[in-house]
Order: sequence, then C-alpha cells, then structure tokens
Amino acid sequence: GTGSRYDFVIVGGGTSGLVVANRLSEMRDVTVVVIEAGDSVLNNYNVSTTTGYGLSFGTSIDWAYQTEDQIYAGGSKQTMRAGKAIGGTSTINGMSYTRAQKAQIDAWEKAGNKGWNWNNLFPYYLKSEQFQVPTAEQAARGADYYKSYHGDHGPLKVGWPKAMTNSSLLPILDETFQHLGVSYNRDVNGGSMVGLTVHPDTLDRESNVRHDAARAYFWPYENRSNLKIISNTYANRIVWGDDSDGDAVAIGVEVAGVNGIEIIYATKEVILSAGSLKSPVLLQLSGIGNSDRLNQHDISLKVNISSVGENLQDQANNGLSYEGKEFWLGLPTFSALPSAEQIYGNELSDFASTVSESLGDYARNVSIASNGAVEEANVLDALQMQYDLIFESHVPFAEIVLLPIGHSFSSEYWQLLPFSRGRIHIQSSDASQPPAINPSYFMFQPDLKAQVDVAQFIRKAFSTAPLNRLVGEEFAPGVEHVPEDAPDAVWESWVKSKYRSNFHPVGTASMLPRDKGGVVGPDLRVYGTKNVRVVDASVVPFQLCGHLTSTLYALAERASDLIKRRYIF
Ligand code: FDA
Repeated sequence: GTGSRYDFVIVGGGTSGLVVANRLSEMRDVTVVVIEAGDSVLNNYNVSTTTGYGLSFGTSIDWAYQTEDQIYAGGSKQTMRAGKAIGGTSTINGMSYTRAQKAQIDAWEKAGNKGWNWNNLFPYYLKSEQFQVPTAEQAARGADYYKSYHGDHGPLKVGWPKAMTNSSLLPILDETFQHLGVSYNRDVNGGSMVGLTVHPDTLDRESNVRHDAARAYFWPYENRSNLKIISNTYANRIVWGDDSDGDAVAIGVEVAGVNGIEIIYATKEVILSAGSLKSPVLLQLSGIGNSDRLNQHDISLKVNISSVGENLQDQANNGLSYEGKEFWLGLPTFSALPSAEQIYGNELSDFASTVSESLGDYARNVSIASNGAVEEANVLDALQMQYDLIFESHVPFAEIVLLPIGHSFSSEYWQLLPFSRGRIHIQSSDASQPPAINPSYFMFQPDLKAQVDVAQFIRKAFSTAPLNRLVGEEFAPGVEHVPEDAPDAVWESWVKSKYRSNFHPVGTASMLPRDKGGVVGPDLRVYGTKNVRVVDASVVPFQLCGHLTSTLYALAERASDLIKRRYIF
C-alpha cells in the first residue's frame, strides 16, 4: 500500500541510525522510516538507571551474538553483546564518552577516504553534544574539561554522574600513575588521549538517567509527521530494481514483522545502520559480498565485494580486582590510557621489533584465513599504519578502567589496537539463521603478550604508593593462581581463560578505496550501488582508542550532512 513507501528507509534504529533519521527528517519534504527489530525501552529501568551497567545483559534487549570457537584464545565461544531496542547498543552500554586520538582519525583520510580527518569530524562531535558543565561538587571530585572541546546545543547529553566517587581518590590515583610515568589529562576529548583521566558519560545529570540515542535523537522528535519508526520488525534483505548505469538500485527492504513478510519501499535510499555484526550480514543476504560464498547459499550476486564481513576488529577485555580498604560510593569514571612507551619503558624497542618482524607473515595468514577475500598487501598496509600509530604517533596503547566500588577496587582493561583480524559470514540464505562470527582474538601472538604486559602493569600500579595503601588482597587473578614471578605462560593462560569481548566490533564494511578492500567509499555508499549506504560501526576501518559511541554519533552526523547535500539545492 501507499503507507509503506518512504524516501529513506533506515535499517536499525540504534546509535547511528537514529542520528541519520533525525537529521534527514529535518528536510520537511522527505519521508523517513526506521525499521527496528527491538521495541521502546524508554521505561525500562535496566536501561535508564545510571548505575545499572550489566542489568540488561542476557535479557530480551540483548542480541547476545555467539562467536565461533576462539581457537587462538583457549577454544571457547564468546558472547558479543549488542542492544536490540530503539536506541540500539547505546541503551545497554557503559556510557563512557571518550572520542579518539587525532592521528587515528587522520589515518582514515591517509588511507584514501577523502574528507575524513580529525579537523572535519571535530565539529560533528560538538554538533551532537550537549555538554553539562560540572557543578562545584563534581569539579572537586575530578570532573574537568576544556570548554573548546565541547558542544552546547546538540541532542546528546554528556557529563558526569550526579554521584561521583569520593574526592580523595583522584589525587591518590594521580600520584600513583605519575610514578609509572602516566600524567594527568584534564580532558581526553580533544584528540590527545594519553594519561589518567576522569571522563564524562552519556547521561542526563539532572534526571539521573542514561542518555541513549533514543532519548537524545528520537523521542523528542517522534511527532515529526515525516518520521516514522516501525519497531518489532526485522529487515531480511534489500529488494533490488533494475540496474542504472551498471549500478545496483535498491527499491526497498523485505521485512518480517507483525504482518508477516512485506516490503517497505524506498524511493530515494536504503541506509543500513544495523550494527557491525548485522549490516555486513544484510549486505551478504542481499547479494553483496564474496561471489563464491554467496553462490554456496544460492544467493544471486548483485555486487562482488569479497571483503564484506572481513576486517572484523574487536578488543579483548580482562580484569584485575582487589579488596578495598575503604568503602566507595558513587559511580567512578576514572581511566588510565598509557602509551606503549609508558607500559614498556626500556623494553619498548624489543616489543616494537617483535611486532614489526611479525607483520609480514601475519598479513599473509590473515589473507589465507579469509580464503583470499582480503589481499595480503592491503592487510599489511593497514597493520603497518596501526604499528605507526602505536609506536610513532604514541596513541594510547591500553585503556585501564579503575572501579572503586563498595568494598572492592577492580579494574578492567583492554589493548586498544589489537592486530588480530576476524570475519563475519552468513551460513544460510535464511535471514533468521545466525551468521558465523569469528573475531579471531589473539590470532596475532603479540596481542596476547600485550594483554599480559598490561595486566602486569596494572598489578604494579596497585602495588605502587599511595594506591597500594587503599587495597588489600588481590582477588583476581590472585597471587595463588598467578604468583608475583609467574612466567608469561601462566599469565597467558589466565588471560585466555578469563577474557571477554570488549564489545567494540568495527570494520566489517570498511570505508576504504575499493581496491584496498573497502566496502563503502567516503560518501558511505556501498560500491557498485546507486543508493545503498552503511552508517554504523561497520564502516569504521580501523579500531579506535576511544569508546565507540562518541565517534559514531559524529560520523553519523557528518554522514547525514553528506546525504542531505545531495537532496537540498
Ligand atoms: P547499534 O547496535 O547501536 O544499532 C543497531 C540497531 O539495529 C539495533 O537497534 C538493532 O536492534 C537493530 N537491528 C539489527 N539487525 C536488525 C534487523 N535485521 N532489522 C531491524 N533492526 C535491526 N561505547 C561507548 O561509547 N561507551 C561505552 O561505555 C561502551 N560500552 C559498551 C558496553 C557494551 C556491553 C556494549 C555491547 C557496547 C559498548 N560500547 C560502548 C560500544 C557502543 O555502544 C557500540 O559500538 C555502538 O552503540 C554501536 O552503534 P551502531 O550504530 O553501530 O549499532
């Protein structure tokens, strides 16, 4: 019927999709529909409470994607969480708001994505943000910032929790990390991230609720007559019309919802924002991918791009924890972001050589593991660029989240830019069947070593004054399991037995030149198509040192402007 025809069909009402829906529907004369598998979580306490991290895990709003057996990481499967709700993963995430290092956004442009550099993206971080200036009480507890790094008028509220951890802590952490060569960083959101920091979160301080993509970009705008969301509805695949000038033309999306299977028609564009573990799957189900693989599943080829679903990059998360000698109240937002130099000290050049010498063989292995879907030379270029970021631009090497809560003081950490590369592939042409997800954690052996080295650095931090006076016994890993002088092999088996996904998958429909293994170009349009774009974490070509949402909001803001430019004269 006529009700199911819109100018823009956006698949996925998540973090990125709702930004695009909001901005495109600012054009009064176009219609925008969002297809979302999940439902409203506006009144879901697990979502709104600012101290509820983890409460929604395993509930109906968690996709809880399962990986393949992780053969380089102890063999077990991992759960990769993602939000299934209006608001997407921003409704279940940790709310940390940290952007990226300038050099790593500039690397997008160096890799061939014209216009995607820090200076061009920075105004969009500000456009999305509504910064909440800390109160005197919050400032006393460590909330600090540079005004020029923040936006005042955006939809997304960013600031510190109403109840922050006791004010005595920051000076103690600062002094401790100074001893380890890591200095205090007032505000990590200006493109220079190394240091110890008290970062802001995506929350509404006054109402004391999480500010997710739906609260920021959708609910206040839901009455726009040209903006509609269809929830509880799954997109299955893109529906194609006749090619135009050799390019594939999308005319709509096949969906499964309360009315069974139907087609929602798009007169202008289809935009995939289903997340990095779904958008590449939808592309494959729609005939865009590796021709051999699509053939196996009797899917007729629309565009042959072998790298769809390749370049999957996630981080591995481990934690150390200690008995606390005090009782801590409030929501902590302390993070240490040391550079490789700060972690490795005198051993830096040894470690850098180990990595450097392994890259060639490793790039070949990645290409082989992909069955030739990614080219060795392209992988090597990307790894080399990453090496340069770590060892020459000195971007942060690890994030160490410090969590003094109640009677314990724990930490979570991850190597920020692992070299391991994985993939996600369909296993059936039936959209309801799960894909094969393989992040290949620790496939690159030095990644495992890095995860061990950072753990040892954290143990050292907790035994350094004055922090050592606040903690007692080590609960995890515990000296009985991993003694003070334990060989690396013991640490490695601890890492492999306890790690989890850091839930930051990117790269599965990378923005890169087509001959470099890209799936979308700098306009985020899928190669070989006239009117299909991807706007979500899939297009981020290389892992970031910040948490992802801040950069995704900015990316989606900029993408919206690029799209609008085509339709406003
Ligand atoms: P997102 O997942 O937000 O949106 C995709 C949407 O598409 C979802 O709503 C989904 O239901 C929908 N969808 C999927 N398939 C569909 C289909 N076939 N049909 C219709 N709809 C479909 N980041 C950060 O900045 N700070 C943090 O503290 C954390 N912490 C954190 C913790 C946890 C547990 C997780 C899982 C993740 C984080 N992250 C994070 C990461 C961050 O939240 C995440 O990278 C982004 O929210 C992803 O945004 P996207 O727009 O890519 O997808």
